[in-house]
Amino acid sequence: MANTNGNTQTLHDAFLDELRDAYDAEKQLIKALPKLAKAAESDNLRTAFETHLEETEGHAQRLERVFMSLGEKARGKHCDGIAGIIEEGKAIMDEDFEGETLDACLIAAGQRAEHYEMAAYGTLVAWARAMGHDEAVGLLEQILEEEKAADEKLTSLAEGGINSSAASMAHGEEEAEAPARSARASAGKSAGRSRASAPRSSGSSGSRSNGSRSNGRSSSKRRR
Ligand SMILES: [Fe+2]
Repeated sequence: MANTNGNTQTLHDAFLDELRDAYDAEKQLIKALPKLAKAAESDNLRTAFETHLEETEGHAQRLERVFMSLGEKARGKHCDGIAGIIEEGKAIMDEDFEGETLDACLIAAGQRAEHYEMAAYGTLVAWARAMGHDEAVGLLEQILEEEKAADEKLTSLAEGGINSSAASMAHGEEEAEAPARSARASAGKSAGRSRASAPRSSGSSGSRSNGSRSNGRSSSKRRR
């Protein structure tokens, strides 16, 4: 495809496009995170969303420095991906989940956004490095590390009690306690190991397909 100069587009054009997408995603998240924080029932989860809101404002500012380092004006391009993830998060808040079940669902929504951003910044760092944009590499790496830390914080909250409490509400204490105990044991054992090799329960970054959202939803339906 040709750019505005009539030339074939390059990796640098794709890089600028991804940067604009990421800048818009951060702006959308600055509006969405206060809603997640407000909906959270646990104080720790609310604090995690509020802390990440402050970091997200910092991400938008760092991206402005990245644009500047490239001699480009900072501007966003609507990010459809994060818009869809935010819409799904809103849909969860419209359901009648409550207590730890709601918090488990909010964590699932938050981790979807974090993983989307981790994928985007992973690509941006790699492309910036390949093209020798060293200042951009440093700034983008700082953002990527904060996204990863935010994701891990959400995993620790999910696995530190929210998932097991929500599971108890869905299945009763006895049935939920056994898997919760083994999940805690494996989380302890996996400390310091590669995340990919550790068995994960729902709410973790490693296994999302059978996450708390679907469990919560079906239990909610049963209660009605
Ligand atoms: Fe971010």
